[in-house]
Amino acid sequence: MTRIRAAITGIQGWVPPYILNNKELESMVDTSDEWITTRTGIKERHIQKGKGLGTSDMAAEAVKGLLEKTNTRPEEIGMVICATVTPDMIFPATANIISDKTGIRNAFSFDMNAACSGLLYALVTASKFIETGSVKKAIVIGADKMSSITDYTSRDTCVLFGDAAGAILLEPTTEEVGIMDSIMQSDGSGRFYLHMKAGGSLKPPSHETIDAKEHFVYQEGQPVFKFAVTKMADVAAEIMARNNLKSEDISYLVPHQANLRIIDATARRMGVGTEQVMINIERYGNTTGGTIPLCLWEWENKLKKGDNVILAAFGGGFTWGSIWLKWAY
Ligand code: ACO
Repeated sequence: MTRIRAAITGIQGWVPPYILNNKELESMVDTSDEWITTRTGIKERHIQKGKGLGTSDMAAEAVKGLLEKTNTRPEEIGMVICATVTPDMIFPATANIISDKTGIRNAFSFDMNAACSGLLYALVTASKFIETGSVKKAIVIGADKMSSITDYTSRDTCVLFGDAAGAILLEPTTEEVGIMDSIMQSDGSGRFYLHMKAGGSLKPPSHETIDAKEHFVYQEGQPVFKFAVTKMADVAAEIMARNNLKSEDISYLVPHQANLRIIDATARRMGVGTEQVMINIERYGNTTGGTIPLCLWEWENKLKKGDNVILAAFGGGFTWGSIWLKWAY
């Protein structure tokens, strides 16, 4: 029997126009361009300004662009998954709202919460529906308005994050391309180092939680860094080893963009050179769900059919994972 795989057949990114650079951050908190650049690799990040705009608005722009460039009608879409930690609202799902804003009706749409690994979790989930034939066209979105949960008086976190959205079209193929293998893992004991303290059922929002700034990202940078360096590199190396992929077989590593030092460590472990690594953290910062689609979007013209691409991510949860895919166009 011919095997059906899920292939990426289109990709589109979107970032809001406002750019917050390191110089401006120097005027907001006690930091420096030199510290931010050497410790993280980030120079600037895009921020969604304006009242009444949320994650779904950025994502809808990406989805509209994706539908247009792939000549896809909204009614052809059977599934929409939005990977985000900054949903428009706790419910309904942001994927429902994005579908409404882009004319997608009756699709199986829901959100995926796996922090910075969310895009990979969503991609693997959607691929299973494509592989079994129950969905013909799926859109996987990674979108986050990180500025909505970032404390701009805390230098520990405010230099790290940016806002962005990316949308990926997945379709079935019988060719030897598409998603070939994946490893997705998690360890919930890592939640103590990276989370948002209030706003959920454990600690509903109140005046006290607002005063204590508990609606912002809380991160203990060093333990997260140590875990991220190890896990992202381990999982990328494991997916190569179990598929007999050598470093020279890899066209591109597409790492989650949280910190240039974590990306470098992963590339070293895989034995791939910098020219094989998609890096744009300097212009966007960590956009959580948005990082991997933004990279693929920016490198789309360089990718060739059959290229071996390794996606790798690490994020809150802790969650981490890696996907091996063969580029399909
Ligand atoms: N400017 C200047 N100094 C700063 C800043 C800043 N913006 N931020 C922290 N510092 C200071 C600290 O106060 C500390 O000072 P001290 O030594 O006097 O106490 C010093 O710099 C070192 O701080 P560290 O936290 O040890 O710095 P580190 O090298 O670990 O870098 C960072 C911090 C960038 C956050 C790093 O730990 C990191 O990248 N962690 C992993 C992030 C990650 O991968 N997150 C997962 C994805 S995010 C998600 O899922 C939502």
